[in-house]
Amino acid sequence: TVYPDYFYAEKDFDKSHMGYKPLTIPEGVEAQPLAVPPLLAPDKVDGNDIYYTIEAQEGESQILPGKKTKTWGYNAPLLGQTLVVKTGQRVHVRLKNSLPVLTSFHWHGMEVPGPITDGGCHAPVYPGEEKDIEFTVKQPAALTWLHAHPCPSTAMQVWMGLAMGVVVTDDNEARLPIPKNYGVDEFPVVLQDRTFHDNQLDYRADYDPMGVFGEVPLINGVVRPYIDVTTQKVRLLFLGGSDRREWRLHFENDLTMTQIGGDDSFLRHPIDVKKLLIGPGERQQVIVDFAGYKEGDVVSLYTDDFKLLEFRIHAFEKDDRELPFNIFTPDDPAVNSEAPVRHVTMDDHDKINGLRFSMERIDMKQTLNSVEYWDVTNTNNSASGMLHPFHIHGAHFLVVSRDGKKPNPNEINVYKDTVEVGPGETVRLKVYFQNAGVFMYHCHIIEHEDAGMMAQIQIVDPKEPDKTYKLMDMETI
Ligand code: C2O
Ligand code: CU
Ligand code: CU
Repeated sequence: TVYPDYFYAEKDFDKSHMGYKPLTIPEGVEAQPLAVPPLLAPDKVDGNDIYYTIEAQEGESQILPGKKTKTWGYNAPLLGQTLVVKTGQRVHVRLKNSLPVLTSFHWHGMEVPGPITDGGCHAPVYPGEEKDIEFTVKQPAALTWLHAHPCPSTAMQVWMGLAMGVVVTDDNEARLPIPKNYGVDEFPVVLQDRTFHDNQLDYRADYDPMGVFGEVPLINGVVRPYIDVTTQKVRLLFLGGSDRREWRLHFENDLTMTQIGGDDSFLRHPIDVKKLLIGPGERQQVIVDFAGYKEGDVVSLYTDDFKLLEFRIHAFEKDDRELPFNIFTPDDPAVNSEAPVRHVTMDDHDKINGLRFSMERIDMKQTLNSVEYWDVTNTNNSASGMLHPFHIHGAHFLVVSRDGKKPNPNEINVYKDTVEVGPGETVRLKVYFQNAGVFMYHCHIIEHEDAGMMAQIQIVDPKEPDKTYKLMDMETI
């Protein structure tokens, strides 16, 4: 089977709602090679322990012709370097804030303890200060990411550039016959959009409580990128890094993409798709086979009918390695039969279960490692509402059903941490946490999150039932 369509109803696509902005390429921008973030070098390796420094910093980037743009990044002027960690490794990170404002370092997709290591709003690092964290990697190969998460300025800081890839590798991945030569046949593809005012970013000027669209596509920080293809197969690790925009990807000539992974793992079985919708916060991994093309050909990736990324084909050697039928075996532990089904609603564009976010309120509690159903409902009017990408910190989940029916083929038997929920729809998730702490869950349209479509859960370790956490409030921050 080759799936021909996006797995969502066209009427729910966020292109007919208020505030929609089509994409455009500013005049005078020449095509340029896709930037591939360098791999972050460790400060020190000591057996299974590895040490890094991540510094949030100001910088300047040549994004458009003419004046440079003032941007923020991690160990880079914009976005960051790619951190690669391995399952089982003990990772020590020095978080350094060289920005003029406070920030936090959130590990989206990493199953680390909350709320401090997780890096949400309870873990500010003040300007000029640093903080050390450490965690053990307890999850399989995937592309996760690090982004700023101070409340309520997450969107503004991500808009300025604070987002970087965190790749988890493992032995399973090492064994699979897939492209894995970073920057050669394996590329992170961070999909974002930004608006420029005289070449500068101005988040306030572009603010829209329904979510901010940028007018110019930025892929890994590049406006009109191309990839030089020198191998028959190319692996793309897509990251939906926009505040609001959904990416509706498809190739020219209807070229097939073989999807091999989702947010936090490979799929059990690869599937072939023609189209792929990637919402804010989501990751999808595909392999594209250019066997039908020859040196000199050019084939492009589109979002809707807008050309995003060009693949320039060069000579390559034949690569007919086939993927095994089974590329990953997800754990699927039994649901705790004593736990009632949890109901979470995403309301309007700024509430969860009817309430706006409060830093000092714990909205739910769940026991460590207890596997529970969460029914997540988007209560928007089904005629005019939008998809809301629901995200949980510090855990992966399995998608069980959509309105009682089978989930999308690319969300079955794969670990997810962000899932699109359609207007009027209820998505059932199977959720458990392998670390204790306080964690946020929210819509990943970042303006919705900042406006209050966010709540928090405390995960209780039965060995320390009375443990409490110091929660920040807006005043002390
Ligand atoms: Cu990408 Cu609260 O997270
Ligand atoms: Cu997160
Ligand atoms: Cu939302």
